[in-house]
Amino acid sequence: MAEFMTGLKRSCYCGEVRLSDVGKKITVCGWCQRQRDLGQLIFIDLRDRTGILQLAFDESCDRDVFQKAFSVRAEYVLAAVGVVRERTSKNKEISTGDVELEVQELRIFSKSETPPFAIEENSNVKEDTRLKYRYLDLRRPDMQKKIIGRHRIVKVAHDYYDENGFVEIETPDLIKSTPEGARDYLVPSRMFPGNFFALPQSPQLYKQLLMLSGFDRYMQIARCFRDEDLRADRQPEFTQIDFEMSFVNQEDVMGIAEGFIEKVYREILGIKIPLPLRRMTWQEGMERFGSDKPDLRFGMELTDVSECLKDTEFKVFSGALKTGSVRGINLKGQAQALSRKEIDKLGEWVKSYGAKGLAWTRLAEKETSSFEKFLKAEEVEALRKKMDAQPGDVLFFVADPKNKVVFDTLGALRCELAHRFNLIDDSKPCLLWITDFPLFEYSEEEGRFMAMHHPFTMPNPQDLDRLESDPGSVRALAYDMVLNGNEVGGGSIRINDSELQRRMFKALGFTPEEAQRRFGFLIDAFRYGAPPHGGMAFGLDRLVMLMLNCDSIRDVIAFPKVASSAELMSEAPTEVDQKQLNELGIQVVKQK
Ligand code: AMO
Ligand code: AMP
Repeated sequence: MAEFMTGLKRSCYCGEVRLSDVGKKITVCGWCQRQRDLGQLIFIDLRDRTGILQLAFDESCDRDVFQKAFSVRAEYVLAAVGVVRERTSKNKEISTGDVELEVQELRIFSKSETPPFAIEENSNVKEDTRLKYRYLDLRRPDMQKKIIGRHRIVKVAHDYYDENGFVEIETPDLIKSTPEGARDYLVPSRMFPGNFFALPQSPQLYKQLLMLSGFDRYMQIARCFRDEDLRADRQPEFTQIDFEMSFVNQEDVMGIAEGFIEKVYREILGIKIPLPLRRMTWQEGMERFGSDKPDLRFGMELTDVSECLKDTEFKVFSGALKTGSVRGINLKGQAQALSRKEIDKLGEWVKSYGAKGLAWTRLAEKETSSFEKFLKAEEVEALRKKMDAQPGDVLFFVADPKNKVVFDTLGALRCELAHRFNLIDDSKPCLLWITDFPLFEYSEEEGRFMAMHHPFTMPNPQDLDRLESDPGSVRALAYDMVLNGNEVGGGSIRINDSELQRRMFKALGFTPEEAQRRFGFLIDAFRYGAPPHGGMAFGLDRLVMLMLNCDSIRDVIAFPKVASSAELMSEAPTEVDQKQLNELGIQVVKQK
């Protein structure tokens, strides 16, 4: 029979009991980590979120209590009342290892079936199983540490923004669908059959409207929804530390963001982040690291070798050089460690980044190369010199008519090799700003320019006269914060002038009618006095993941989704009743 809390009151947590408590009568509650039956002696390790306390039952113990202790199994939920005593054999592994509880009263609140995996730190369980039984996985001390660590980071965010005059304001979760960005999650409306709400990809438009309303400084821990393909650092449902400020320039917004990062590292990890953070333009990030979120914890920078090859007859290179470039990276001293077979595998791997091939030279004892035979001797010499090639190095080159493909591929290869060969100095966090992003990005798929950040981003005033004539060359007042090669936050100064916003929509290929249909409420609002404003959002999940040294974003989210966007525990998404569909006027077309 289950027992109740009646007449009991927990006096402390298990992990808090120390030698100084010896002789005190206490009441503790928790789960049975394990029960050891030594005949005349029974021990139960009782676990709560703070740690483990050993409960002891011996001859002096009431026989009913002893019998109860005898029946306890792993994960039974218990309360124990007793007197703290010093242990004869101490356990240095746990914080309460000097003491134990001589139990006088034991209650069993609920029994447990044998769990599908043992509840212990670093258990080697398949992630799918952990996620199916997430409530058990979350009992594990390392998971509790991460989730509580996340809470503490959020607490610092609330405090920091409050101290700096930000007002926390909630924005709606059921909003108008404004495609431009990732794919929306749609929610059907019962009152307006055939009409849909969207879940917000971010509070962007609402926080801008709050600036128009005069709130001046807004912040929110905001849930965002994006129907994207998932990766290790992406979830369909994620959280931002979102903020917006009025009467500011780019420096002001970046200053507030840096201040938060400084505080959160100091208070949570005791790490001092020197400010201001390093800055790099987007152009420099691409040229040197092939990335708009460069990982500066290792070298292996990109080298443009186009000049050495300008007269080459090798088609792969000469074809690329007309509009693009040939660039390379030098993997220093690893020629012996990287086999020919592995190089060939990399040659296939780069294709997922759009490259058509990977040219390489391996300077092992015997020099081999995939392409040098197609070049003149002086070209090879110039190329090697430019790459600072030494015996033992492996050189990789990518050629493409599109520089973006060259950057993306070498940027990814550089990180892959650094991970594989342990070249990363992770002794301290590596933070920097990327600034001067292009305002637009050309989409082959859409056949038009798209906003690189979003359509409300302020163009750099110095480039404004080229908005129509050469949109590709216009820079944005946009900035991203990069932490260890991950984008942890991004934002911009916004357009606050309806005439400029109109030009922007035009440059994006929207007719005035289309712009009005999609963003009418914002355009209208701008007619009534909009302050200069700007802001930013940190990806909270990513920030927590990196600060707490986790491999996956899923480890810092209590109930995350897997790569297919499903939630394994509840098995969402699921089919719904026909009645529900009828109410919504929805008919499901079965896909083959
Ligand atoms: P952005 O789209 O850059 O900007 O998002 C801000 C930050 O959110 C994180 N992030 C994600 N984290 C987990 N899973 C995802 N799918 C995901 N997508 C983004 C990243 C990113 O840097 N409204 C603008 C901000 C602004 O301009 O103020 C915005 O949403 O760390
Ligand atoms: P091929 O003449 O196509 O056999 O190419 C000779 C070498 O050039 C091979 O090692 C290819 O992998 C490499 N290669 C092909 N296309 C590219 C490219 N776009 N960039 C770099 N190397 C390439």
